[in-house]
Amino acid sequence: MNIDVFTLFPDWFDWFRGQRHVANAIAAGSSLSCVDIRAHTPLTGGQVDDTPYGGGAGMVLRVDVMDAALSAHYRVDPVQLRQRRRVIALTPSGRLFDEEYANELAEEREITLLCGRYEGFDERIVERFCTETLSIGRYVLAGGELAAMVVCDAVMRKLPGALGHEDSALEESYSAALEGAPEYPHYTRPAQYRGWEVPDVLLSGHHEQIRRWRMAQSARRQVHAAGEIEVDKGEGEEGAR
Ligand SMILES: C[S@@+](CC[C@H](N)C(=O)[O-])C[C@H]1O[C@@H](n2cnc3c(N)ncnc32)[C@H](O)[C@@H]1O
Repeated sequence: MNIDVFTLFPDWFDWFRGQRHVANAIAAGSSLSCVDIRAHTPLTGGQVDDTPYGGGAGMVLRVDVMDAALSAHYRVDPVQLRQRRRVIALTPSGRLFDEEYANELAEEREITLLCGRYEGFDERIVERFCTETLSIGRYVLAGGELAAMVVCDAVMRKLPGALGHEDSALEESYSAALEGAPEYPHYTRPAQYRGWEVPDVLLSGHHEQIRRWRMAQSARRQVHAAGEIEVDKGEGEEGAR
């Protein structure tokens, strides 16, 4: 898979590219490239934004600047580009990013992510160059870079070679194996710690009972997440929390 991120801060991704699962996916043939929007601006002094028509605070990323950056990188009119690849504007109000959306993107051969800054994009960028808008949550970040990294992280860990154990991504929260529910709890050594015990069933070696316990826990968390079960307040422990 090939992911291109258009950003004013390409250096931010140097650290991200070095993270193991990302580096693994890249070594296995995927790519994560950053295009510096400012490097392609047709305006003087590296200008990329301007004041909003109609007044108001902040600066808006200009449509001619984004046009120049996309055209220079793909050598095609960006209006046509979106017919051959998904071009995704990162916005707080876009389609909410979730596991289903991540699975969908992981199936693509190539995608483009556009990171906004300041007040965001001139709307014509979204309307004319993009296939969609994506939000990583209903809150406002200072820029699209962290949102792009969230998307790349969730998508790239699904790519061949990204994870040490290919099975890790098969049975986890929101996967088909767990019928879309959150994952069950995990425990590891020591089996006893400060009087806190690991559930007996996990030490039983009885695979079918473990499987059933895990599915039940996963379903319980699903209900819990929907707000139908009271939060476990850890009442078993003296002087807890
Ligand atoms: C300060 S925000 C702009 C907010 C915009 N004025 C608004 O009220 O919706 C600057 C940029 O950060 C990115 N961004 C901020 N929050 C985001 C989120 N929750 N999901 C995806 N991108 C986000 C977008 O690229 C956005 O253009």
